[in-house]
Amino acid sequence: MNNTTAYRGNIFYFNDTASLENLPKHKNDTSNQYVYIEDGILIVKNGKIDGVGSYATYKDKLSDIKVENCGTKLITPGFIDTHQHSTQSSIVAAYGEKLLEWLEDYVFPGERIYADHDCALKDMTFFLDHLLRNGTTTAVSYGPLFYDASDLFFAELNKRNMRFITGNILMDINAPATLKLSTQENYDISKKLIDKWHNKGRLSYCISPRFALATSEAMMELCGELKKAHPDLYIQTHLNENTNEVKEVKKLYPWSKNYLDVYDHFGLITDKTVLGHCIHMLDEELAQIRDSGAIVSWCPISNNFLGSGLFNYERTLKFTDKITLGTDWGGGNSLSMFAVMDDAYKVSMLNNQKLPSMHRWFLATYGAAKTLQIDSKVGNFDKGKEADFIIIDPDASPFLKYRRRGVEDIFELLFILMTLGDEKIINSTYIMGECAYRADK
Ligand code: GUN
Ligand code: ZN
Repeated sequence: MNNTTAYRGNIFYFNDTASLENLPKHKNDTSNQYVYIEDGILIVKNGKIDGVGSYATYKDKLSDIKVENCGTKLITPGFIDTHQHSTQSSIVAAYGEKLLEWLEDYVFPGERIYADHDCALKDMTFFLDHLLRNGTTTAVSYGPLFYDASDLFFAELNKRNMRFITGNILMDINAPATLKLSTQENYDISKKLIDKWHNKGRLSYCISPRFALATSEAMMELCGELKKAHPDLYIQTHLNENTNEVKEVKKLYPWSKNYLDVYDHFGLITDKTVLGHCIHMLDEELAQIRDSGAIVSWCPISNNFLGSGLFNYERTLKFTDKITLGTDWGGGNSLSMFAVMDDAYKVSMLNNQKLPSMHRWFLATYGAAKTLQIDSKVGNFDKGKEADFIIIDPDASPFLKYRRRGVEDIFELLFILMTLGDEKIINSTYIMGECAYRADK
């Protein structure tokens, strides 16, 4: 089937050579690592990018193709969220506690609803609809603890044809009896899910030990074995999010050199390991992240909401450029990558650092694709890439419509979108060229 559509509008994406090192920091910077076309055309054929350019150069070649006119809306690759809890929608916006108490008082009771099939299906359907409403097309996500709910989550993602990296969250210690499985049960569920879902369609399995306080040494040992048996699996966990958490980890693993060392001891620190938060880091831990190629997921809205601390972007960047952004939905009170990019800026200002607009947008799109090693498939509009993209309508917000008058360049446009944008300006979200969400439908 030859299924071709052209989208006409303003187009923005990063070149495949773009990196945090060579991205322009301001509009007078001549390093040209992005493509911005006013009145451009994006051609999508059979779910993949088939071409991109100015309308003027394409207009005579469009006679047989359906053209969707998006006016002055911005057509750009979908966002990539590298840390989120798909099971925490029911406890977002929970009052008054920091990490360890918040987990006990809100998160663990909330995640129990996933033991029930109907509740699980309702909650995950809402979650995925909301993710698409926010323009996120790919995520690294913690799934449910239980097999049935995890299987349902993979099936729902597969039905929606989303490129997703996820796995059942693992907990075998320090959790309430109703949200704890034995080490063997956790392992057996993981094996079954890997066999059924890993590399099926656009899905990748992620070994997901919750954190060192909820997974026994035996559990982490088994996680290491799974990774050895399937080297292309991802791993995700939490690291150095909260100072009390760091102290408890030291108590539970007195033999460890530092928090990262606990995971490393079991072979869990690899170039496909996504480490959420990484706030209270020792230099030696950052050096180890650099040497292993592990991936940092910075989650500023969650860190602000839970009072966890200020991630230091410039310090981290001195060690590694494998930095990405996550909502940490659950702890983060928004699924919008606009909110994440906005808080990343504010956290940097509190650290007396100016975070360039291009850097933030890169971290939330093509930078994350590169870091996750999926850049040959998604993240920009090079020919042959999977057509996961969003159409942003700044005029959907009365204030953005007002504020964008007089905006002269893409640097300023991105800056005001990140500072003032939210889900309301996502006009539509496309997955493999199919419209998966449209605001006016
Ligand atoms: N550390 C362990 N579990 C969690 C969780 O669910 N959310 C956050 N923010 N941190 C965690
Ligand atoms: Zn988290």
